[in-house]
Amino acid sequence: MTTLPRIDRDRLPALLEAMPKAELHIHIEGSLEPELMFRLAERNGVALPYPSVEALRAAYAFKDLQSFLDIYYAGASVLRTEQDFHDMAWAYLVKAAQEHVVRAEIFFDPQTHTARGVEMGTVVAGLSGALERARRELGVSCDLILCFLRHLSEEDAFQTLEQALPYRDRFIGVGLDSSERGHPPEKFARVFARCRELGLHLVAHAGEEGPPEYIRSALDVLHVERIDHGVRCVEDPALVRRLAEQRVPLTVCPLSNVKLCVFSRMEDHNLGQLLARGLVATVNSDDPAYFGGYLNQNFQACFEALPLDATHAWQLASHSFEASFADAADKRRWHERLAETFEQFA
Ligand code: ADE
Ligand code: ZN
Repeated sequence: MTTLPRIDRDRLPALLEAMPKAELHIHIEGSLEPELMFRLAERNGVALPYPSVEALRAAYAFKDLQSFLDIYYAGASVLRTEQDFHDMAWAYLVKAAQEHVVRAEIFFDPQTHTARGVEMGTVVAGLSGALERARRELGVSCDLILCFLRHLSEEDAFQTLEQALPYRDRFIGVGLDSSERGHPPEKFARVFARCRELGLHLVAHAGEEGPPEYIRSALDVLHVERIDHGVRCVEDPALVRRLAEQRVPLTVCPLSNVKLCVFSRMEDHNLGQLLARGLVATVNSDDPAYFGGYLNQNFQACFEALPLDATHAWQLASHSFEASFADAADKRRWHERLAETFEQFA
């Protein structure tokens, strides 16, 4: 579409809700709601260090990435069986379908589970079973991306890759997450090179809390196709120009950034600046059960706090399709649906 239909400001919330979109940065363990966490804890005889759902929710006050990760990894300890992984992923996918997410590229952190004695096969079977069901029953296009935990060694990442290779057809790529500061992308150069040889898609968290140099090395050393977060790129104007020219997507997670104090308030978030500088920025939920909102709540919060309009909504949805690892025919179809939705709101 060359010219967008005019859309009144008061129709923006409904447009954001209804427009088709892709979610490219969601950690499935971060979608585990307290209610399901308590049900799984009971089912598996796991003790949680909180007496109730309310007490657990009250503990979700984070001062930085690490203070969140400590609680997030503890929460994942209730996941034991294939059914548990299925139930968690299915709950997310049902919610995603309701929010008009037509494509979801879903991170999982196998080391969080294998370190506790849960088999890689159990994790992958549970998650990929839920994804298969979502394709069939919900019509959501979805795939898994395996993330290496960067606070662990490259040796551990190699072992994890080895354990995952029997299930090579169940995931489309690898990523890099967990504590960013002090764990630069270079630490994982060899394991990413191996994943590249294997034909896997490559992404990495960079420039969330870490410096812009980590974004550069994710590109130059790891050869990633997308940067997860990347909001600190604005500190390096030459890097911003490069990201724009090469159309390297950034999977931005606004509510996460505020909850983890990357920005003090949503009004201070740089999403608008990123778009104004021509970056392929997208909106994502990161860990929705912990950060106070799924994808549509991320959109609503940004558009309430920032000077964004229907043109930005179009850009963000369009970028999400462009940045996805789906095939070209699907991307074309979603763009057409996007145009139809905008026409309905004109
Ligand atoms: N794992 C889950 N959420 C994360 C985030 N926002 N940054 C790094 N690792 C994560
Ligand atoms: Zn993340």
